[in-house]
Amino acid sequence: MKFFIDTANIGEIREASALGILAGVTTNPSLVAKEDVSFHQRLQDITEEISGSVSAEVISEDAEGMIEEGKELAAIAPNITVKVPMTLEGLKTVKALSDLNIKTNVTLIFNANQALLAARAGASFVSPFLGRLDDIGHNGMEVIAAIAEIFDRHGIETEIIAASIRHPLHVTDAALNGAHIATVPFSILKQMVSHPLTDKGIEKFLSDWNKQN
Ligand code: E4P
Repeated sequence: MKFFIDTANIGEIREASALGILAGVTTNPSLVAKEDVSFHQRLQDITEEISGSVSAEVISEDAEGMIEEGKELAAIAPNITVKVPMTLEGLKTVKALSDLNIKTNVTLIFNANQALLAARAGASFVSPFLGRLDDIGHNGMEVIAAIAEIFDRHGIETEIIAASIRHPLHVTDAALNGAHIATVPFSILKQMVSHPLTDKGIEKFLSDWNKQN
């Protein structure tokens, strides 16, 4: 499983990229709004930082508007992936953009049928939202597992991005259940690195070393 970072913050993207684990970036309108910068300028900056997929979301609700926005976003850099919501208009958009060889990430996926439809419309990625399902008492991981099994059984190449990740265990379970990618907030990426026994071990090694030197 690969890692994307779920942020529009350039400092976080640079730090994650320096770790050598970053295969892409996902943004959404809420994440961009936190940054108080021009959306297009920020996308330009992100695509200059990393060569992997950078998801940029459309905000129109009709296919015509989404397709126009998608073409404008894709013109920013070759590694832009256009993020499209899972609606009837969104599916038409995915079909139109994929006919133009523009990559798409269908977002706000909450069940396997939505993922299957998005894939058949030509989506490069589907993003099931784990945390938001868990928040309302559903099991987000079962949705990931079902999508992974269906895609595998039917030879579908669309990649599954485990999104709306709330804690490190979501990442482990998404990998075990067949997600190709996890898009992880920077705070959770840092949590994944640390373990109290690692810290304790370093402390002990250093104190033993210092006793002898
Ligand atoms: C994914 O592409 C979305 O940006 C994201 O994971 C949404 O997560 P949230 O539920 O924490 O807003």
